[in-house]
Amino acid sequence: MKKMIIGQNIRYYDEVDSTNTVANELAQQEAPEGTVVLADCQHRGQGRLERRWLSPPNKGLWFSVILRPQAEPPTAVQLTLLAAVATSLGIEAYTGIRPGIKWPNDLLLQGKKVCGILCEMDAGETIDHVIIGIGINTNMTLQDLGPELQATATSLWLESGRAVVGPELLDEVLDQLNYWYFKWIDEGFEPVYKAWNRLNVTLGRFIRVDCGEGQFCGQALSIDEEGALVIREADGRERKFNFGEVSIRNPE
Ligand code: BTN
Repeated sequence: MKKMIIGQNIRYYDEVDSTNTVANELAQQEAPEGTVVLADCQHRGQGRLERRWLSPPNKGLWFSVILRPQAEPPTAVQLTLLAAVATSLGIEAYTGIRPGIKWPNDLLLQGKKVCGILCEMDAGETIDHVIIGIGINTNMTLQDLGPELQATATSLWLESGRAVVGPELLDEVLDQLNYWYFKWIDEGFEPVYKAWNRLNVTLGRFIRVDCGEGQFCGQALSIDEEGALVIREADGRERKFNFGEVSIRNPE
């Protein structure tokens, strides 16, 4: 029997500041694992590295999932890679086009970002909850993206020429999240790690990583068991990053 927990309880809002914030509040009020917070529009959508995430009404799928894995806090990083795999495959199931993953969890089409994922954890010695926030640009036009984002971002509409019916895409992504979450619980990180590697567009490429402490260039070699990115710099030294922003220097 198919194991389903994610999406059994969906809370829909017309507008919120951020679905991650609402999900976090609900999680603190003991909302069950698998609760999904979905909003038509976010006024303060949060991106990684403290950036804003553009989230206008009817143009994207903006949602957050509450998970309560019985795992050590460091393994939660694996869930961010899992979310990228599941979302890429969910998008493929719905549109027929498969986004590649730029480390750690940006989804790209034609080298431009179509989906971003922001994972946040509340943990002490054990994990209380993890929020997985997913933003997919579905029906955005070039005008919606604006001149600043047009160079680096895209939407499913722009890439496939087909308007997205939000609830149908959500169903596919939640199906994939359920599948990969239970696979991770039953079999551990390895299947996720393999799937991430198949979908990745980072490894083997010459990249620049901006990690807050500076910018480092080199060839992306691998991700380790905890999801950190390993690069080889020009002098042959290997360097590891737990977080950062990657720019691919030789786009396909
Ligand atoms: C990134 O910078 O790539 C991450 C973007 C994550 C955006 C999503 S939209 C739904 C959820 N709510 C938020 O405020 N952020 C995430």
